[in-house]
Amino acid sequence: MNKKTVRDIDIENKKVLVRCDFNVPYNENRVITDNRRIVAALPTIKYLLEKNCKVILCSHLGRPKGEVKPEFSLDIVAKELSRLLDKEVKLAGDVVGESAQKLTSEMKAGDIVLLENVRYEAGEEKNDPELSKKFASLAEVYVNDAFGTAHRAHSSTTGVADYLPAVSGFLIEKELKFLGEALENPERPFMAILGGKKVSDKIGVIEALLEKVDVLMIGGAMAYTFFKSMGYNVGNSICEEDKLDLAKELMAKAEAKGVKLMLPVDTKVGKEFDPNTESKTVKYTEIPDGWEGYDIGEETIKLYTEELKKAKTVIWNGPLGLFEFDQFAIGTNSIAKALADVEAIKIIGGGDSAAAIEKAGLAEKFTHISTGGGASLEFLEGKKLPGIEALQDK
Ligand code: 3PG
Repeated sequence: MNKKTVRDIDIENKKVLVRCDFNVPYNENRVITDNRRIVAALPTIKYLLEKNCKVILCSHLGRPKGEVKPEFSLDIVAKELSRLLDKEVKLAGDVVGESAQKLTSEMKAGDIVLLENVRYEAGEEKNDPELSKKFASLAEVYVNDAFGTAHRAHSSTTGVADYLPAVSGFLIEKELKFLGEALENPERPFMAILGGKKVSDKIGVIEALLEKVDVLMIGGAMAYTFFKSMGYNVGNSICEEDKLDLAKELMAKAEAKGVKLMLPVDTKVGKEFDPNTESKTVKYTEIPDGWEGYDIGEETIKLYTEELKKAKTVIWNGPLGLFEFDQFAIGTNSIAKALADVEAIKIIGGGDSAAAIEKAGLAEKFTHISTGGGASLEFLEGKKLPGIEALQDK
């Protein structure tokens, strides 16, 4: 990576503001259901503690849109961090107000303060320089380790870097290493699996990957737009009528580039959007009226599994079916299991596919599971991430 990290500057004894992505899922009882993003931030926090720093952490949680809403409080994160670090993590009562200023001014080496949800401040998402200056006034050094939010140009991810020496933490370093190396210098065959609902969400990444991969496997609801573009009936399946030409273009492009573009050959369809709905598997050319496609079928699972056995590098982004419903999670889970046994560099591009792999208990079988959903997608598209661009060059 050409950006400085915490290793590249004199950070000993400094007061450091660290932007993390603690945007974790939690249930209606405010219990965190997946602490992966908090665990992923620990190496940088521990390093700073070893260097006798005063560690000020900040993050967003959800989208409170500039208002103080207790249901978006980082109190649950402060508790989880305290538990994981076995150390008190004090939560400020605000973001950059009196409470934050008082707590951070009283810190001793080795103390940790977590600011309240940065999106309680209306200036955060506007990248307001006044707010950025306030963030900067709390510390001597700024560290960005929020890979998951690196695609957002906000005050706490980008603006603050104008007013303090700004470097990356170990999580951003690691994410860029794995995602970057896979794209720049992949061991071949290089295959990508792309799922998700809409072709329109993935156009950028499909186009970018067609320049790099040998095989591109499509799953998820976006497959039905491809089927429709070939002239087949898709019943009630999700289909972007205005993207049929685009789907055709992408298929033509793949052919011109010699990329093997694989689409499902069968699909599991259901009667209605219900976990227990009646379902059956049909050929992709024979989706009946009144049925909706929710997963890839057994034949597709076999076909993709056989192909993946030949891979040396695999990137996977997006679930292959409606994996929230058990009967339509079979495609995603089967491919996750099959891929777990493949000897290759295997990178999961975050979000729902990462959650599916965690849920299946297969995480340790993968080379890297990104903590970024949107951020990893934008990285794969070849876009520059503002949270990383803002950091000091080496
Ligand atoms: C994410 O979960 O993708 C990041 O935390 C960014 O969240 P956002 O989409 O609300 O900006």
